[in-house]
Amino acid sequence: AASSIPADRVPDMEKRKLMNLLLLGAISLPTAGMLVPYGSFFIPAGSGGAGGGTYAKDKLGNDIKVEEWLQTHGPNDRTLAQGLKGDPTYLVVEQDKTLATYGINAVCTHLGCVVPWNSAENKFICPCHGSQYNNQGKVVRGPAPLSLALVHADVDDGKVLFVPWVETDFRTGEDPWWK
Ligand code: FES
Repeated sequence: AASSIPADRVPDMEKRKLMNLLLLGAISLPTAGMLVPYGSFFIPAGSGGAGGGTYAKDKLGNDIKVEEWLQTHGPNDRTLAQGLKGDPTYLVVEQDKTLATYGINAVCTHLGCVVPWNSAENKFICPCHGSQYNNQGKVVRGPAPLSLALVHADVDDGKVLFVPWVETDFRTGEDPWWK
């Protein structure tokens, strides 16, 4: 009869440990899953800049030359480049085949997934929880609370130079939340 006490306790302890493990797993798995697309998209390269800006890099890590980019990216194109601090940032080609003077930070303002461009819908649609942004990155459907951040896409020596956007957000008329 005495031996039944530890025998009862051990399974309890094991059960508790298992419960804790399951709980941990439930919390940490989605988090890890959401961080993967963002973390693995680009390996941030130590990139030189000019006057607080950073030259946009293509997926191979090369500087982006505007003329070449426009030869391979047509009207209404949105393609990711490596932006400020390594953030995945969309370069925008306008309807008139010029490069837009702004880039759109692809990091969802809900929980940080990289938001893909959906050209058929003419929107950015987040695969994680369904937030939607219009073709300029303005939020049009939650749960995302805010629009995608903007950067300036300047041209310097024929190359795209991203510069922090600190002025009014032209899509909302408000101060930028990302400053
Ligand atoms: Fe984009 Fe949740 S992270 S909707």
